[in-house]
Amino acid sequence: MGAGTRVSPTLLSRGVSIREGRTYIHGIAVADLAEEFGTPVFIYDAAHIRAEVEAAKEAADWQVAYASKAFLCRELARIMDELGVHMDVASGGELYVALSAGFDPSRIVFHGNNKSVAEIEFGVAKGVGLFVLDSVAEISRLEKVAETAGRRQPVLVRVTPGVEAHTHEYVMTGQEDSKFGFSLASGAAEAALGMVKSSRWLDFVGIHAHIGSQIFLLDSYTKEVDALATLVEAHSPRLLNLGGGLGVAYVSGEETPGFDAWASQLYAALARNGIGRDIRVMVEPGRSFVAQAAMTVYRVGTVKRLEGLRTYVSVDGGMSDNPRPVLYGSGYEAFLPEAADAERDQVATIVGKHCESGDILIRDAILPASLEEGDLLATPVTGAYGYSMASNYNRVPRPPVIFVDESGARLAIRGENFEDMVRLEA
Ligand SMILES: Cc1ncc(COP(=O)(O)O)c(C=O)c1O
Repeated sequence: MGAGTRVSPTLLSRGVSIREGRTYIHGIAVADLAEEFGTPVFIYDAAHIRAEVEAAKEAADWQVAYASKAFLCRELARIMDELGVHMDVASGGELYVALSAGFDPSRIVFHGNNKSVAEIEFGVAKGVGLFVLDSVAEISRLEKVAETAGRRQPVLVRVTPGVEAHTHEYVMTGQEDSKFGFSLASGAAEAALGMVKSSRWLDFVGIHAHIGSQIFLLDSYTKEVDALATLVEAHSPRLLNLGGGLGVAYVSGEETPGFDAWASQLYAALARNGIGRDIRVMVEPGRSFVAQAAMTVYRVGTVKRLEGLRTYVSVDGGMSDNPRPVLYGSGYEAFLPEAADAERDQVATIVGKHCESGDILIRDAILPASLEEGDLLATPVTGAYGYSMASNYNRVPRPPVIFVDESGARLAIRGENFEDMVRLEA
């Protein structure tokens, strides 16, 4: 974000508009939402999520699953259910939330490298559409549960294709060293497929692979398909799930490749490898459906100007509502929703309120020098892996989550209070 410019529209959801310096979402002033729901607050543009999912559905004749680890609550699960997509869950807890929202279990894909027997029993009993098998131990766990239930369980086998992709590069690892899936290189994938196909209680539907997250270089997906091709030819799956990971812009200058380009890349690679249209393709993006849909709005507290060193701008949240900067060194931008047109002429470090020097949200944010205590400050693109990774560190209550669209604003998750900080205690 350059000084003197507005926050880039590419970082804002479709429903956001700026008029005379004030920021609105679907016509409602962000400041009014902050007043009504308090700060910090996650504001999701529900219409943006719907539009992204529709765009993904239209990009190709593929099946789309939403990777719910990016963000899940019942309101979101209901939206995904209405849109008719599949849902990837990675724990019994995610499965529970989806089911309690009424999400159709036959469209659930159950992931995880260490599903417990209890989680497997829960999933089988509820009629989960697909289990993704991750280890030999899990094959036998699921077989036993399916046999007891008297239900032949449809499954995918997760393969580690030896391609790891992040952001602007991919590496061919030929890797054995992953906690996920069965490696191709060692022959473990081949052996697992043999076990599954000969099982009376497992219905082999297909193969799954996932090569990473925040991928901007689409060629990584070509490498993935190339790596899987021989296995696909040998085992004739009905479905090939190629994972998620499409990159999302967090700061200006970044640009998502988009669903159309992703689809073209995948289908070109499939065609080149002779993988026919009779094999259904599934993708399971998380971030690209929800990241840009949300912004977090904080209130500025202490502003500490260390002469010749740095200005620290403290907000009323931090690493407990957005751990990504601390975990991954992720970059974000910030703007003042009530002064979105103000000249941005100072570099400041935005920090949270936690007892941790590393509790930094943005190291070099460009903000108006006029910023002062009491101002609202927004960080866009916080819809993925923000709330879903939130914690109560320092016993800081987790913020509310609100959904906004043409029909107005509604509370999806209430904010926690101090009483909630002891609600689990004996
Ligand atoms: C198996 C699997 N599928 C899908 C995803 C979603 O990735 P993203 O949110 O980057 O699209 C992940 C994320 O880590 C994953 O592990």
